Amino acid sequence: MTAQLIDGNALSRQLRESVAQRVATLKTQGITPGLAVVLVGDNPASQVYVRNKVKACHDTGMHSVLEQYGATMTEADLLARVDALNNDPTIHGILVQLPLPAHIDAHKVIEAISPAKDVDGFHVASAGALMVGQPGFWPCTPYGCMKMLESIGYNLRGKHAVVIGRSNIVGKPMALMLLQQNATVTVCHSATPDLKAMTLQADVIVAAVGKRNVLTADMVKPGAVVIDVGMNRNDEGKLCGDVDFAGVKEVASHITPVPGGVGPMTITMLMVNTLESAERGLAAQA
Ligand code: GUN
Repeated sequence: MTAQLIDGNALSRQLRESVAQRVATLKTQGITPGLAVVLVGDNPASQVYVRNKVKACHDTGMHSVLEQYGATMTEADLLARVDALNNDPTIHGILVQLPLPAHIDAHKVIEAISPAKDVDGFHVASAGALMVGQPGFWPCTPYGCMKMLESIGYNLRGKHAVVIGRSNIVGKPMALMLLQQNATVTVCHSATPDLKAMTLQADVIVAAVGKRNVLTADMVKPGAVVIDVGMNRNDEGKLCGDVDFAGVKEVASHITPVPGGVGPMTITMLMVNTLESAERGLAAQA
């Protein structure tokens, strides 16, 4: 069997069109959704990510502000900037790009962002809201994975989902979102003694470790759905995920490619969260 591709670029285009329409509607009501992206230091990968985020805002008709600071910026100065953005009515979402320089406490900075503008979904209040099923902002990468499953009409009720990786940004929130859709969820990680024994039981596998070939064809039940969150380079320097794509696509029913899978969905869900923040602001005024 050759798996069907879940095309993150095509799904992103479709979702961004619908975001652009909702942005246009909000503008007729006098509100332009605004995202502030804050980058500290000169990490080259971060520079690419923030440029793509700002471009996505532009493409969907949103307002965006890119604030770039040198690597020597103090924590106090960054906290002051976050505070100013919290109080700026033209800004509905605040994103502080990670990683931050080592002298800045990233947790403290994230906690300084108003939960009402935490479109990354990294604030403890956002994590808590997801945990108890209350409205908040879901972290963009696992939220994008859920949209990919939705796009193939996949019903998670009663299915066994195995998440490989337990990060605060992907693995843990992913497990909670799958659980909310009534899947039975297993979270595997570096201390899991027999990963293959777990993944062979899975109807859905989400690989989010950041290591090549974490999931190979012999570890996948025929017909399983495989979502690859990884973003790695192979020996030739080409972008690849955590999944051995060539092997696993012969066993899975659906699979996300890298590139062109989860990656574009992350930025798309950031647009969705920023739009929703602006819409909630409007609803609160009414
Ligand atoms: N660094 C890598 N991915 C992300 C992300 O989704 N949000 C932020 N703020 N920083 C990141």
